[in-house]
Amino acid sequence: MAIISSKKQPPEPGKQPKQQRKSAKASPPQEKILQPETVKDEQGKKEESIRPQQFRDYIGQKDLKDVLEIAIKAAKFRGEVLDHLLLYGPPGLGKTTMAIILASEMGVNYKITSAPALERPRDIMGLLVNLKPGDVLFIDEIHRLSRMTEEILYPAMEDYRLDITTGKGSRARTRSIPLSKFTLVGATTRVGALTSPLRDRFGLVQKLRFYEVDELSQIILRTAQLLKTLVAEDGATEIARRSRGTPRIANRLLKRVRDYAEVKSLGEINESVAAEALQLFQVDPCGLDWTDRRMLSVIIEQFNGGPVGLETIAAATGEDTQTIEEVYEPYLMQIGYLSRTPRGRVATPAAYQHLGFKPPNEQMSLL
Ligand SMILES: Nc1ncnc2c1ncn2[C@@H]1O[C@H](COP(=O)(O)OP(=O)(O)O)[C@@H](O)[C@H]1O
Ligand SMILES: [Mg+2]
Repeated sequence: MAIISSKKQPPEPGKQPKQQRKSAKASPPQEKILQPETVKDEQGKKEESIRPQQFRDYIGQKDLKDVLEIAIKAAKFRGEVLDHLLLYGPPGLGKTTMAIILASEMGVNYKITSAPALERPRDIMGLLVNLKPGDVLFIDEIHRLSRMTEEILYPAMEDYRLDITTGKGSRARTRSIPLSKFTLVGATTRVGALTSPLRDRFGLVQKLRFYEVDELSQIILRTAQLLKTLVAEDGATEIARRSRGTPRIANRLLKRVRDYAEVKSLGEINESVAAEALQLFQVDPCGLDWTDRRMLSVIIEQFNGGPVGLETIAAATGEDTQTIEEVYEPYLMQIGYLSRTPRGRVATPAAYQHLGFKPPNEQMSLL
């Protein structure tokens, strides 16, 4: 078997599996309705209107909420600012939302930015000097901070101080400017990619997990109310089941189903309307999309169920290894379709069944 490189590596001359890549790229469906990142039409004001603004509207993530509620109460009681908080987990699970809720619960203002927007030192300096006491500074994709920006953040996080160096060599001078006490909330899909000095400066490090079907149903019913759309409980459950454990996807699927029901004048969205609509949009009953199915079927059909290396899967699906590790695999592992072994990825009997393959016996004994 040829060793297939992932998208990010330079192709080996003459050995690039052109055909395989091309076919993998050509066949995915037109749109990525199940992708957990925001799509263009979700960035506007309408989207903000369905984002929960208070703890009580933030459904699920009980462990996270318990920890933060205590931290907020304690900080308020002592009249101090909240500890710096690092939130990590796959996209669409509510990291940004939680940062906004924190600010509102603490009664302070927030500023939202993301690491790629903080390229030059003066970008982060400008933000820091303008913070008011207690403010929340939210930095998305914090694992992508440049080294210089990161180094400016260390004293800012630790001592609320900005160190500015002017001049060079023997004439270099460092001046310290005091900053308001603030809370940094960092969000990342790749906690492992953070440098340890940065990670160590967060007093609270919390993981967000995928949502259960009943939690997603509640989110869907809440959004339906805000959108003034009638959704029956079984309709919400049907949409929830197909949402990959991700609120952002749940809300998006709800809107698609609503459009479908409106166009067909079907009235209230119940289980059969939801199932019909989502089938039309090619959303799998378990929320798998083309890439998930392709990943699993490559492992099953071409590698007898695995183990298969990440790079090979990446080449076969046309996705980069990072996206597979951060977006696809966590959900497939969560629903028990994929397991990671030291030798590579293995498709589980449940995956065989879901895709309509007969599980081989050896596969059973491997797991
Ligand atoms: N716990 C939750 N309860 C209700 N809605 C949620 C929850 N978490 C996320 N959402 C919805 O999902 C959308 C995406 O959440 P967001 O915080 O932007 O995710 P992330 O920052 O982790 O990518 C939000 O607009 C919000 O409407
Ligand atoms: Mg976000």
